[in-house]
This record gives sequence, structure tokens and C-alpha cells, in this order.
Amino acid sequence: MTRYSVLFVCLGNICRSPLAEGAFRAEAERLGLDVIADSAGTGGWHKGDPPDRRAIAAARRQGVDIGGLRARQVTAEDFRRFTHILALDHDNLKTLRALRPSDGTAKLGLLLDHAEGFEGLAVADPCYGDDAGFDVTWNQVAATAKGLALTLKSNP
Ligand code: 4NP
Repeated sequence: MTRYSVLFVCLGNICRSPLAEGAFRAEAERLGLDVIADSAGTGGWHKGDPPDRRAIAAARRQGVDIGGLRARQVTAEDFRRFTHILALDHDNLKTLRALRPSDGTAKLGLLLDHAEGFEGLAVADPCYGDDAGFDVTWNQVAATAKGLALTLKSNP
């Protein structure tokens, strides 16, 4: 059985969390880690939409295809279904804490707490900036993916 399942959560689920999902899935595959990865938004404005084309392009530059992902909103069931739910920033972590049902079992945390040297920091939203911002986001989520995958691998 798959022991770990990780849900990455930002606001719209079209810029940051699909990149986090893609980077983590690629790293887990590389390490042969049996995990489930998914992403969602605390907001529902983009339900059913693919990631922002600039996010798709940034992932593609790293050899990762996130074009098939579709945005969805976090549900109460997510707190029972996933072992870990990681927020891309503090606002979304706060929203997740408020949404968490009393029988929720998922561990909630801040994504960058798993990236050495970036603990406590937020992944800034690149959606309203230029294309280069998406490469910065990729670097942050890829550093996290490595740290997180190694942590999970050493705690089977
Ligand atoms: P994300 O960026 O949270 O990184 O996906 C956003 C994308 C869209 C919106 C907000 C944030 N929006 O309000 O539509």
C-alpha cells in the first residue's frame, strides 16, 4: 500500500501548486518512492482549468509535463485522504487550518519548511509577474521536492 500521499495547496491551483506537484512527482519517481501527489487551490475560480501556460512551459524546461493537470478546490475529504497537506504560503496555511474538519488526519505544514535554508518562507505567487518568475518558483518547489522526498524515503 502507498504509505504517503501529499497534497500541495496554493490559492488558484494554476501557478504554484501544479509546479510543486510536478517537481515532487518527478523527484519521487527518480528515488523510486511510492507516493501519491496531487494539488488543489483554497479558491475555486479556476476549477477544471489547466495550469497557467507559463507554469507548463517552466516545468517543460525541466523535462516535466504538467499540461494534463486540472485545477480543483480543496475539500474536507482531502484532510482524511492525504497524509500530508503542504501550503505554498502562510495565507493558504491559515485557510487550511480553518477548513480542517475535526476528524482530519493529514499533517498540515508550510511547503518551504522542507527546503533547507528556506524554512518559514512563502513561495511568492508568480502569476502576476513575468515568465522568469516561474523559473524562480520551479527552483523553490524543486528544492522542496528533494528535501521532502528524502524525508519520506528515510521514514518508510
Ligand atoms: P496560484 O496563483 O495560487 O499560484 O495558482 C493564483 C492564480 C489565480 C488566482 C490567484 C492565485 N486567482 O485569484 O484567480
